Amino acid sequence: MNIVVLTGAGISAESGVDTFRASSDPKRMGLWEQYPVEQVATPEGFAADPVLVHHFYNLRRQALATVEPNPAHFALAELQKGLAANGGCLTIVTQNVDDLHERGGAKDVIHMHGELTSTLCSACGWRWHNLDDLSVESVCPSCQTRGGPRPDIVWFGEMPYHMDTIEAHIKACSLFVSIGTSGAVYPAAGYVQMARALGKQTLEINLDASDGSHFFHESRRGKAGTLVPEWVDEILGARDA
Ligand code: APR
Repeated sequence: MNIVVLTGAGISAESGVDTFRASSDPKRMGLWEQYPVEQVATPEGFAADPVLVHHFYNLRRQALATVEPNPAHFALAELQKGLAANGGCLTIVTQNVDDLHERGGAKDVIHMHGELTSTLCSACGWRWHNLDDLSVESVCPSCQTRGGPRPDIVWFGEMPYHMDTIEAHIKACSLFVSIGTSGAVYPAAGYVQMARALGKQTLEINLDASDGSHFFHESRRGKAGTLVPEWVDEILGARDA
């Protein structure tokens, strides 16, 4: 069985990572309610105030050290191993810039919106693994440009990564599952319609109704930390039966 899972901020919420938009969880504010999105998540915002943008992503990167994967991340890693053992495949496509899927044991995670642990030189395009704070004084290790390094994050107005690869995986799957995403940002929000047009089964697991809930064959409402392990047990149990 080949499955593609698309994840969003909701899968990391129970780990203590802020979602971008407010949800029905009263304990959490959305990041975009705390910071103006056009200032911290656009190329124009970075050009206007790189100090603010570096500060915003330095906080997010530092916060990685304070959070751990939750049962939803671990369950997806278990599903990946379980399917692979039988010649199947689970492809995890994430909009998240955290590294909790990997720390939960998942392999080959496709980060379509970039990664906090990666830095990109805006002068020469060099990319490298980096956990340190960035500033306007940071120097690219490849071209030596001071101020070249920026967070390797796909901002609004930029092209998401790996789109051809993601589409190929959707074409090859039999089931497309969306977990913890509001369906507010394209192209990720359109993958369910692509999957439907290709005749795939579709399932949504989300705390609240998303913008695209009506596109899915089935929607399950609740917390990913509970519902994802239950769903994984169903899939692996059906396989073993
Ligand atoms: N379990 C399941 N779903 C949850 C949980 C939880 N514990 N907590 C919140 N959610 C759901 C919310 O109901 C909401 O629908 O997760 C969703 C999170 O939505 P967003 O904050 O919009 O996050 P996401 O969909 O990942 O955002 C997409 O927007 O700004 C950009 O680049 C950013 O990648 C991000 C993209």
